[in-house]
Amino acid sequence: MRSRNCCLRCICCCYCFLFILMLILAGLTYYFYREYKPEIPSYQVKSMDVKSFNVDQKDLTINVDMIVYVEANNPNSHIRFNYGHDSAVAVWYKNTSLCAGKLPSFEQGTKNITIMNIEMTGENEFGQDLQDALKTNQETGQIPLLVTVKAPVSVVLGSLQMREFNVYVECHLVIDSLEPGKKPRVVSSSYDIHASY
Ligand SMILES: *[C@@H]1O[C@H](CO)[C@@H](O)[C@H](O)[C@H]1NC(C)=O
Ligand SMILES: *[C@@H]1O[C@H](CO)[C@@H](O)[C@H](O)[C@H]1NC(C)=O
Repeated sequence: MRSRNCCLRCICCCYCFLFILMLILAGLTYYFYREYKPEIPSYQVKSMDVKSFNVDQKDLTINVDMIVYVEANNPNSHIRFNYGHDSAVAVWYKNTSLCAGKLPSFEQGTKNITIMNIEMTGENEFGQDLQDALKTNQETGQIPLLVTVKAPVSVVLGSLQMREFNVYVECHLVIDSLEPGKKPRVVSSSYDIHASY
């Protein structure tokens, strides 16, 4: 009888402890969000440089080397962002990948705007249909591109680096040209940004 009582007490203690721990965690989370009002960073494609852009009519391939300049804006006044190594950026034309690369890995300070230079290269299949479509788009000066970004980002608060999450950006761009050595103009752009753990 005695030992059973003891055991019960022990279990009860454990539950109490867990419950208090959960309360503390919930309190901390609430405090964190109220005090620091974390805001998701925003991104914008500022410009591009096309270093090479060659469509091979015989092999039906495309060879691309371009730099995309993306402005990353951290609007938070207490939170810094640490961009990890495992990022992926790609440029697509009608569901075909043109080129791919990575974001620079760096820590972005509070209330900071940084332009990231993202160099992307690629050699991909590019069939006759795509070549024709691109030619038509070149003529009208309206080339639709999709830029996708997956960036592992950790929140840094003081000296504390917190859990990493992934930021996903889908940017639908229309540019006026895609020729080596010519700076394309961004005609229009729209962004879809979301984050997940
Ligand atoms: C791209 O792929 C998606 C889904 O696979 C499809 O719904 C869409 O029509 C495709 N877009 C083009 C331009 O081919
Ligand atoms: C933003 O951060 C970058 C990299 O840490 C730094 O080079 C730049 O000077 C900062 N810009 C401003 C406006 O503080």
